[in-house]
Amino acid sequence: MAEPRPEGRGSWGSRLGFILAAAGSAVGLGNLWKFPYLTYRFGGAEGGEARGAGAFVLIYLGAVFAVCVPVMVAEILIGRRGRRNPVGSFRAIRPGTPWPWVGLLGVVGGALILSYYTVVAGWTLEYVGKAATGTFSRYAESVSDAEIRTAICREAGVTDDATCPEAVRAFLDRHDGPEARDTALREKKLELYAARLFRDFLADPFKQVGFLFAFMALTAAVVLGGVSGGIERWNRILMPILIGMLAVLMVRVATLPGASRAVDFLFKPDLSLLSFEEVLWALGQAFFSLSLGMGALLTYGSYLSPRDRISTAALAIAGIDTLVALSAAFVIFGAVFSYGLQMKGAGIGNLFTAIPVIFLHVPGGGPLTVLFYVLVAFAALTSTVSLLEVASAYLMDERGWARRKAVLVAASAIFLLGVPCALSFNVLADLQVFGRTVFDLFDYFCSNLALPVGGLLISVFAGWVLTDGERRAEVQELHPVLYAAWLVVVRFVAPAAILAILVALLLGKVSG
Ligand code: TRP
Repeated sequence: MAEPRPEGRGSWGSRLGFILAAAGSAVGLGNLWKFPYLTYRFGGAEGGEARGAGAFVLIYLGAVFAVCVPVMVAEILIGRRGRRNPVGSFRAIRPGTPWPWVGLLGVVGGALILSYYTVVAGWTLEYVGKAATGTFSRYAESVSDAEIRTAICREAGVTDDATCPEAVRAFLDRHDGPEARDTALREKKLELYAARLFRDFLADPFKQVGFLFAFMALTAAVVLGGVSGGIERWNRILMPILIGMLAVLMVRVATLPGASRAVDFLFKPDLSLLSFEEVLWALGQAFFSLSLGMGALLTYGSYLSPRDRISTAALAIAGIDTLVALSAAFVIFGAVFSYGLQMKGAGIGNLFTAIPVIFLHVPGGGPLTVLFYVLVAFAALTSTVSLLEVASAYLMDERGWARRKAVLVAASAIFLLGVPCALSFNVLADLQVFGRTVFDLFDYFCSNLALPVGGLLISVFAGWVLTDGERRAEVQELHPVLYAAWLVVVRFVAPAAILAILVALLLGKVSG
């Protein structure tokens, strides 16, 4: 090795600690929101006749286990071999080459992800509070009849006051009997109320920056504790609770009338309808969900003992991540199908407008809503922790800073980067860069460019640059046949798949 390895970097207390921390990084908003949303969309549930998301789920499983797990092994392997942050690891393994730039892409990309991801993570804190104080159930008295009428007309595309009463009558006539009409109006009120709460919340710049700050402070508090004393310890506490909460939600939803339909929707594949776009989305989502390509797992891998098996750990991490994603989809669809609901609109905001509506339909749903948002907050925290650790490890290794200084400087700098993201929904809403708000721009750049490019280069490095001896030393446990298969994926399959995503994105074939 070119340089002595930095002393006192810390290490995991146990292999389970590593697996839980890495799974904690992987399980996040991507699982609890994006995955259910994508299955909903590709299952065709958006426009009336649902054809089922089985094909998408199947492709997703294929992407996770056939492509992403091998890439994950490659990423962890580079970290454990380099024993440093992403930049330092590449430099330690191949000094004097441009490869450390790949590490830098990871550090910078990770910081950018953290800046906007923490904004959304902060929203969960407000929503835990809203749910706990029963805000959502007060919709009936909070929305006036006049507001309902305006909303119905707007939805019907009626803009002038004269024809509005007609549109309202048409809406009411679609429902038989006074009871059905009452229900329809109540539903509208609830929907409107949830949307308004969210809109008002976004419009408040002080709250947006305040919650960003609060969540960043929480993240920093965990990372300040160090690898085993902070990150591992908190993941050991939060991850089991998270899984327990998800189990409670699943049991509740399993007793609802729509539960079996949700299972059919997710697991009955009809491959004849599969589109190329769907395949690319499945791959992109699998990458994001598993925290690949940004040096997060590389950094976590650098604290892994040489005795621990990377391949089985990667399988466990991917297994947990996938189970959580499927469970979240089951919980949401089980409730949605039971009460004939719809999830309208695309963005992450749905997590905050649709969920309260969905759970208010479930008997005993009040506490479930609290549970759900605490779950999302925990999942987000274990992810932000992994991202802050990347930047902190970089500052500690490369500048020789103490953990305390590195974490506080990284968290403060990334908080400042997050401020324009938090203001993208209010005072800076009109500031467009490349036709996007700062928040959307960061998301687009990270999810669609930095992440796939990072994953591609990590695969190329592990598959083509490392010597067979260097690679084999890190995955000695693999049977020769499995090792050969892994190498084929890392050398050919993963780069080809990622290139396909990039080309399709650049040609505008799939939208980001
Ligand atoms: N995987 C997380 C999620 O699903 C997000 C995330 C955390 C991430 N760390 C990352 C994504 C590193 C890419 C790289 O929400």
